[in-house]
Amino acid sequence: VRDGIERGRLERFRTAVARRLGLLFDDGKLDYLAEVLGRRLEQSGVEGCAAYLDRLSSPAGWHEEWRALAGDLTVGETYFFRYRDHFRAFTEAVLPVLVQDPPGRLRILSAGCASGDEAFTLAILVREQLPALAAGGQVTIRGLDVNPAAIERARAGRYSPWALREMPPAFQERYFRSRGRELILDEAVRAMVSFEERNLVDDDAALWPAAACDAVFCRNVLMYLSPDAACRVVAGIARTLRPGGFLFLGHAENLRGVSEAFHLRHTHDAFYYQLREDAGRAFGVEAGSTTATPPRPGAIATPPPLPWVAADGSWVETIRRASARIATLAADIGRGPAAAGEADRGASGEPAEVARRDLASVLELLREERFDDALAQLHGLPAESRDDPDAQLLRAALLTNAGSLTEAEAACRELLETDELSAGAHYLMSLCREHAGDRAGAVDHDQTAIYLDPAFAMPRLHLGLVAKRARDLDTARRELSSALSLLPREDASRILMFGGGFSREALVELARSELALCGGPS
Ligand SMILES: C[S@@+](CC[C@H](N)C(=O)[O-])C[C@H]1O[C@@H](n2cnc3c(N)ncnc32)[C@H](O)[C@@H]1O
Repeated sequence: VRDGIERGRLERFRTAVARRLGLLFDDGKLDYLAEVLGRRLEQSGVEGCAAYLDRLSSPAGWHEEWRALAGDLTVGETYFFRYRDHFRAFTEAVLPVLVQDPPGRLRILSAGCASGDEAFTLAILVREQLPALAAGGQVTIRGLDVNPAAIERARAGRYSPWALREMPPAFQERYFRSRGRELILDEAVRAMVSFEERNLVDDDAALWPAAACDAVFCRNVLMYLSPDAACRVVAGIARTLRPGGFLFLGHAENLRGVSEAFHLRHTHDAFYYQLREDAGRAFGVEAGSTTATPPRPGAIATPPPLPWVAADGSWVETIRRASARIATLAADIGRGPAAAGEADRGASGEPAEVARRDLASVLELLREERFDDALAQLHGLPAESRDDPDAQLLRAALLTNAGSLTEAEAACRELLETDELSAGAHYLMSLCREHAGDRAGAVDHDQTAIYLDPAFAMPRLHLGLVAKRARDLDTARRELSSALSLLPREDASRILMFGGGFSREALVELARSELALCGGPS
């Protein structure tokens, strides 16, 4: 019982919230959820928790109550010019592409816009960069959010100085005037943006008109959603973006395991995405559909559940899926090849099972540093095992360990063609690039691996070492410290695959001594 609410009822409430708003609350947030439920129960005037929950889940809906809950359960933190690197990339790399093709109009969506700071930042920048287009009314910016109070604030266009803390002072002077403690946004900028109270996980095709946007900002929204809801929102975004259109997510969010319809872009110290030109054909995101199967009339089809997404899995768990798969192999190895074979004997003979068993024995050879034998065994695998992305990654790792870096780089490139968001392949690419004398390329691939998997220790260690060699001691200290804190938790199979033959202890020692040489704590 929490706050007088039984656990079973709280679970019902948690499930209803995830279903309706897409919001995921882990066990650590149950006290907060109980507090909100208790307060809403009292304010709604409904007699009893069970009756309140019944009404909340009724097919007829309870629109007003859900609006109140959306206000209580969402996090609306935002400010103007949040993540300035994103806006630099937007003005310097994205806008020039967008206005060329097709020229003469620009359509932007801020999905999860909160109080409008992001949408208005975009309006100001577009006005600065493309004054004629903005003055001609050819720019439309739409802001959507499920929180009614946030939409009301956005429509009012009044802000505290705190919301403008990252804004260049010249823009503040040009676009705001003070009234008392508030700053009032210029009318012309306000007129460029429209706001709607909308739930992004609603099953409503009208939310995502096909190919109707050139750029979408959906930053710091997916991180609050269940994996299933995040997949649905991204499918909607892929539908509403025109081919070649751009998507910006928050710093802690990425599309690994969520969508393959986008290319990853990295410029101006920012990561963002570009919808593939063939996204419609290859991924079924053409008009009227977010999947390869036709949607029900008037509804967006829900993408088929991904096999690795646990129904109640958290976002972090989801993006760590690749390492979890490989960790299974490591567990087999931990029991030894005989035990691994034992475990699999009598298994169904399913291709995935076969691939797993085959890879386990290759990993065992890697552990023994028999790189050539491991490569030969990998080469001799049946095609379906050999083409498994884990097998391709293993091959690239073996080639790197064996010192065949040109071949390793070719293997990484091949893998990245099919899985652009493979953190392991980016890390190995970084080693290959460094070997080829391309420091900038090496740094870029390490940064990409870290962006795709913030818990991956090896690219941080490598980036730290590369930075130290270049006398960039701030970066070296930062990355080596991160590697030091991540290495003890890094999974065994990744140490085996990417650790260059070093044990976990040796890698920790290396990170510690290099950090000391950079002036960090020894
Ligand atoms: C942390 S704010 C992000 C604001 C802005 N994008 C930024 O990065 O500064 C997250 C916003 O997402 C909104 N949100 C969460 N779930 C939503 C849903 N299902 N539909 C629409 N908006 C949602 C919240 O109401 C909140 O305003």
